Parts: sequence; C-alpha cells; structure tokens
Amino acid sequence: MIGLLKRAAALSALANIVVGQNSTRYCEELTGICYSSYVNSDGIYYRVALPNNSTTSDAILEIVSPVKYNWAGLAWGGHMTADPLTVAWPNGTGVVVSSRAASIYGVVPNTYDGAEYTYLKGTGVNSTHWTLTVRCKGCTRWTLFDSEIAVDGGNDTSLAFAYSSVPVDNPASNTSSFHMHEVHGSWVHNLTMAKTSNSEYDGWVTSNTLPALK
Ligand SMILES: *[C@@H]1O[C@H](CO)[C@@H](O)[C@H](O)[C@H]1NC(C)=O
Ligand SMILES: *[C@@H]1O[C@H](CO)[C@@H](O)[C@H](O)[C@H]1NC(C)=O
Ligand SMILES: *[C@@H]1O[C@H](CO)[C@@H](O)[C@H](O)[C@H]1NC(C)=O
Ligand SMILES: *[C@@H]1O[C@H](CO)[C@@H](O)[C@H](O)[C@H]1NC(C)=O
Ligand SMILES: *[C@@H]1O[C@H](CO)[C@@H](O)[C@H](O)[C@H]1NC(C)=O
Ligand SMILES: *[C@@H]1O[C@H](CO)[C@@H](O)[C@H](O)[C@H]1NC(C)=O
Ligand SMILES: *[C@@H]1O[C@H](CO)[C@@H](O)[C@H](O)[C@H]1NC(C)=O
Ligand SMILES: *[C@@H]1O[C@H](CO)[C@@H](O)[C@H](O)[C@H]1NC(C)=O
Repeated sequence: MIGLLKRAAALSALANIVVGQNSTRYCEELTGICYSSYVNSDGIYYRVALPNNSTTSDAILEIVSPVKYNWAGLAWGGHMTADPLTVAWPNGTGVVVSSRAASIYGVVPNTYDGAEYTYLKGTGVNSTHWTLTVRCKGCTRWTLFDSEIAVDGGNDTSLAFAYSSVPVDNPASNTSSFHMHEVHGSWVHNLTMAKTSNSEYDGWVTSNTLPALK
C-alpha cells in the first residue's frame, strides 16, 4: 500500500504522462520470442516477455529505437526514482545496456547492482534502428529505498520511458554519464499479454543468449 501511494505520488510529479492501454502481442521471427509490445509516438518500441510463474524477477526486454535517438531507458516502476532503470545506447555496431537506479530526480542515475543482464540475439544496429534485447534478472522484483515492489503481471502496470538524441559521454562504457532526457512519459503496459509458460521462457533465453562481452 505504501509502495502504491509512493508510486502514485511520483507519477503525478511526471510531465508528459501518456496513460493508455496500447500493448500488442508481437512474436519475433529472428528469436521466436513473443512479447507484449508498446510503441510510443516517436517510434520507440518497448517489449516485455515474462515467465508465467516466476519467483526469480526475470524478464526479457527489447528496446528498438530509431537511430536519431542516442539513448533510451525504461523505468520498471513507472517513474524515475526508486526502481530498476534499464538504459541502452548504441556503441558502434553494438548496443550497450546499463543497469541504473536513482534516488532523486534531476541527476544522472547511479549504477545499480541489483539487476543482472545478459545480451540476447537481436541486439545490434542497422541503418534505421538500434535494438537492445536482454534478459534481466532483478528487473521485476526489487527492494530499493524502503519500498518492495513486484511487477509480476496484470494489465495495469505503469512503465516509464525516457530518451534523448544527445549521445552519452562514453558509449563504450556501461557506466557512462549522460545528459538529461529530452522526452519522458509513462504508459500502461499489459503484462498479462507478456506471459508465457516457464519452460517456453527458459527455452527462449537458452536459445538466444549471446556470449558475454569480454
Ligand atoms: C499506440 O500505438 C500506436 C502504434 O501501434 C502509436 O502510433 C501510438 O502513438 C501509441 N499511442 C500511445 C498513447 O502511445
Ligand atoms: C508457481 O510456482 C509455485 C512453485 O513451484 C507453485 O507453488 C505455485 O502454485 C505456482 N503458481 C501458479 C499460478 O502456477
Ligand atoms: C557493466 O558490465 C559488467 C560486466 O558485464 C557488469 O558486471 C556490470 O554490472 C555492468 N554495469 C552496469 C552499470 O550495467
Ligand atoms: C532495422 O532493425 C529494426 C528492428 O529490428 C527493423 O524494424 C528495421 O526494419 C531494420 N531496418 C533495416 C533497414 O533493415
Ligand atoms: C485486465 O483486463 C481484463 C480484460 O480486459 C479486465 O476484465 C480486467 O478488469 C483488467 N484488470 C485490471 C486490473 O485492469
Ligand atoms: C563498445 O564497443 C567497443 C568496440 O567494439 C568494444 O570494445 C566495447 O566492449 C563495447 N562496450 C561495451 C560496454 O559493450
Ligand atoms: C491484456 O492481455 C490479455 C492477454 O492477451 C487480454 O486477455 C486482456 O484483455 C488484455 N487487457 C487489456 C486491458 O487490454
Ligand atoms: C499461467 O498459469 C495460469 C495458472 O496456473 C494458467 O491458468 C495459465 O494458462 C498459464 N499461462 C501460460 C501462458 O502458461
């Protein structure tokens, strides 16, 4: 209840709120992964796949962004503070994921070691878009700054986005600093649509995991 109140308070502090059910089921040819997919008005896709019955805080996330944006982030709690943030940017022909969390607004979010990412097939850059596809352990359940939250399904979960066309300071490093977002907002994502059986989920992770970067 306290978590919910905090979330409501934080949401009301956000500008540019876009609340509306706008998820579609999307099955990707390359990986076989089926997502609940959302696209915002600037053409950035946020896609989530969840195991049906997870006690492991697991999720597969895909962000597809037009190349004119040089970083894009997702806030798993629907607001910038007190939740895991997944931030991504192109790095040459590759794409970097950076695990972050913020305790206050208006600063570059700190690195966050409560989430662990593995790159999946599909991650990369072409002439029009960059794509991040990752498995995250620790994105859908967390304890941060006194609130314990689980994002474990349902069709009324608020997620938030932020992005900018300004490149991060050091794209080759996952701890790079970056400038404030140009655009941010939140939406209601249908996470019921994101679910698949645990065994199918595990299969998607196994068959699409890329070797770790050295
Ligand atoms: C909903 O998705 C459509 C594309 O399917 C997109 O054009 C539109 O901007 C989205 N609406 C919101 C509120 O994000
Ligand atoms: C989820 O898994 C747990 C542990 O295996 C089990 O106790 C529970 O009944 C399962 N719930 C559903 C909805 O399948
Ligand atoms: C950066 O990558 C290393 C190696 O994969 C990882 O241990 C670390 O948590 C990452 N840091 C961030 C901020 O994502
Ligand atoms: C680049 O990748 C995106 C995401 O997979 C895809 O939608 C787009 O069509 C690709 N563009 C080209 C030119 O292949
Ligand atoms: C989820 O969607 C179903 C079907 O549209 C609806 O009946 C239900 O009220 C929704 N639940 C929430 C929590 O919004
Ligand atoms: C960024 O790209 C360079 C060149 O390919 C590579 O050496 C480096 O490991 C990449 N950084 C990350 C964090 O993936
Ligand atoms: C969310 O997705 C589920 C599964 O596809 C569907 O049954 C439900 O109606 C959706 N809810 C809304 C509010 O669209
Ligand atoms: C998820 O588990 C629920 C409860 O056990 C079951 O009714 C539903 O069919 C399962 N959905 C999937 C996609 O496996």
